[in-house]
Amino acid sequence: MKAFVAGATGETGRRIVKELVERNIPVRAMVRDLEQARAVLPDSAQLVVGDVLKPESLKEAIGDSTVVLCATGAKPSFDPTSPYKVDYEGTKNLVDAAKTKGIEHFVFVSSMCASKLFHPLNLFWLILVWKKKAEEYIQKSGLVYTIVRPGGLKNEDNNSSIVMSSADTLFEGSIPRTKVAQVCIEALTQAASRNKVVEIVAKEEAPSQSFEQLFTGVA
Ligand SMILES: NC(=O)c1ccc[n+]([C@@H]2O[C@H](COP(=O)([O-])OP(=O)(O)OC[C@H]3O[C@@H](n4cnc5c(N)ncnc54)[C@H](OP(=O)(O)O)[C@@H]3O)[C@@H](O)[C@H]2O)c1
Repeated sequence: MKAFVAGATGETGRRIVKELVERNIPVRAMVRDLEQARAVLPDSAQLVVGDVLKPESLKEAIGDSTVVLCATGAKPSFDPTSPYKVDYEGTKNLVDAAKTKGIEHFVFVSSMCASKLFHPLNLFWLILVWKKKAEEYIQKSGLVYTIVRPGGLKNEDNNSSIVMSSADTLFEGSIPRTKVAQVCIEALTQAASRNKVVEIVAKEEAPSQSFEQLFTGVA
């Protein structure tokens, strides 16, 4: 397996890259700014320059990768088109490139409440709407996929257990980005993760379960 990570310099993406490196899985980390990337990513990650809004950059960036993990996301801005562009058009471009390259598994970091139109997060230029559209594009693509919808993301890890649930069943809670990274990477090898949408949060009082149990428990 060789993993391609889009959004590799992001807070979640860099944790995905770190986990992959720690598991000795070769990784191609796509970045927009090499200098910024070198400061935050491990030396052993292969850095490739690309941009999901530049479709022509993506096939070469994916190179000989066999799986794709996408943790891109529009940053809050005054540009009303930014979630449409990054979270929808950008993801579509990456899916199209992944199909051309014969990618075996596409893991997408989406968001809890992606199906909710009336949600405060949609005040940020309908970000959840565009994430949901991106999810639908992935689901129709024919690629093997796992869509991971985390609750509120935290930079600090903790000892809480991961709670995993089916689409549109979790509506509150948070999760450390490190645990999101672990779920994304485990999805690549857990048979029960294939073609599923999983919602995840972390809860102190929840029983600890293996990743196999977590993915198997989701319809
Ligand atoms: N914040 C939350 O509580 C929360 C909750 C649930 C889900 N989510 C979702 O989880 C995902 C990860 O969130 P995060 O906070 O870890 O992300 P983040 O730190 O904001 O990182 C976003 C990444 O996307 C990259 N990116 C933006 N535009 C791009 C483009 N045109 N081409 C290539 N890469 C591009 C950024 O690259 P640069 O470094 O070059 O800018 C960065 O690496 C996002 O999709 C977010 O919406 C967030």
